[in-house]
Amino acid sequence: MTPRRFRSFAKINLGLEVTGRLPNGYHELKTLFATVSLHDTIDIAATRGGISVRSDHPGVPCNETNLAYRAAAAMQRLSGRKRGVAIVIHKRIAVGGGLGGGSSNAATVLRALDLMWGLGLGPGRLMEPAKALGADVPYFLFGGPALGLGRGDDIRPLELRLDQKVLLVPGQGGVSTASVFRRFAEDGGPSGAPSRIDSFLRRSLSPGTLRNDLERAAIEESPALAEVARRIRRAGRSAGAIQAAMSGSGSSFFLLFEDAHSRAAASQELRAGGIASLRCSFVSGRSYGHRFELRKAMSRAGRRASNR
Ligand code: C5P
Repeated sequence: MTPRRFRSFAKINLGLEVTGRLPNGYHELKTLFATVSLHDTIDIAATRGGISVRSDHPGVPCNETNLAYRAAAAMQRLSGRKRGVAIVIHKRIAVGGGLGGGSSNAATVLRALDLMWGLGLGPGRLMEPAKALGADVPYFLFGGPALGLGRGDDIRPLELRLDQKVLLVPGQGGVSTASVFRRFAEDGGPSGAPSRIDSFLRRSLSPGTLRNDLERAAIEESPALAEVARRIRRAGRSAGAIQAAMSGSGSSFFLLFEDAHSRAAASQELRAGGIASLRCSFVSGRSYGHRFELRKAMSRAGRRASNR
């Protein structure tokens, strides 16, 4: 069967606040997610049986531990039929860099198979399997600006227009989420500081007011990251960035700018210092969801044609 192609976008955490500890040992978060235009491409084809995953990136496991594989298995269980599926992941999102690549791939497979198999579940009914796959997976069912509460998996999509220019500095992994949270807890845990996300949303402040509570712990875990963070902040300051912050538990950073010129200046300064960066834009929740509504779009076009 001819494969269907889906983009699988990266996220950044515009702000990430640790607000407490949950009874299951996880940390309670309040985070402001946003989707950026950097994406992997996933080809999904129906096959006679079984699930296969391939990728052009050596860091992506091509077996049943892959989140995209597990997402396909969850969809087989939900549909009650063992339909076969072949998944090919063309990787561009840094692996293990706090950009949610693996979680995005999993959510894309959930929504793509929902569409391809005509199950009509939608993001609402895909929530439970998404939560079982990982804390970041539910966000990627919706995309766009959204608040993440609880483990970060209680998602409230937001009507928030983001039009800043984004400069991503993808990390090369090296800091594990579990060790960053452990270090955060050893350092004394949540500070109890007032939520900047709340005041940002209430008063439409600049994203420059937001913070990532995990940054200090990530930097303590990886001294190399401390040096990179310093240089990114310096480049951001000299080019007039509105915000410079780490995404998730690291190791990627991002800078936000009002205009493309300042962004280009920062990108150049980073490149001169041997740090690669990627220019991207924010993706709205509406355009994020379009990929999975092809049938709706097609049936609307069909209705229009037959009404003529
Ligand atoms: O979500 P993920 O499986 O990547 O998380 C890895 C580890 O990070 C968890 O097992 C947990 O120890 C820690 N974590 C946490 N609170 C969260 C998310 C992750 O303590 N909200």
